[in-house]
Amino acid sequence: MSDTSCNTIYLIGFMGTGKSSVSKLLGKMTGRKEYDLDLMIEEDAKKSIADIFREEGEESFRDQETKVLYQTKEISNAIISCGGGTVLRKENVQFMKEHGKILLLTATAQTVLDRVKNSNDRPILNGNMNVEYIENLMEKRRMIYQQSADITIKTDNKALVEIANEVVSLLEKNK
Ligand code: S3P
Repeated sequence: MSDTSCNTIYLIGFMGTGKSSVSKLLGKMTGRKEYDLDLMIEEDAKKSIADIFREEGEESFRDQETKVLYQTKEISNAIISCGGGTVLRKENVQFMKEHGKILLLTATAQTVLDRVKNSNDRPILNGNMNVEYIENLMEKRRMIYQQSADITIKTDNKALVEIANEVVSLLEKNK
């Protein structure tokens, strides 16, 4: 592993924890290039995530997710916003650990619901927009998120800029 290949920041966490928004702001604040795996998948497939899930199924989506993650191999010093399920594959977590630091954003199920309830973009939550479902799925994934993370930040009741500032100072400490 060379020095330049191990300093990317990967944002992970459940849907609605603010990964994409925080990632964009962090990109501006730090001058690092910023990538969003969901957008990369959509560009690559030339269709929306909802269409990929509907037409090809979740397994195919997960394959595409792993493929775009691996495409970031040559990129150093970046910020990469992952999908909520990217960590479900062990090899993806392994890849991230080899190439940088993993930053987990968390929120309560209620906060997540408040943030995502008016969106139809997440096939996994369509038809399941309630606290119980979100809490259940969160619980199933909790250990994976926790075990993957180098740094964890709670996002409930925090402004984007507050979260981003916290990330920057924690990254400084964890250098
Ligand atoms: C998913 C999260 C989504 C997207 C897809 C599946 C998940 O990304 O990758 O809908 O399984 O948690 P966000 O976390 O950015 O919403």
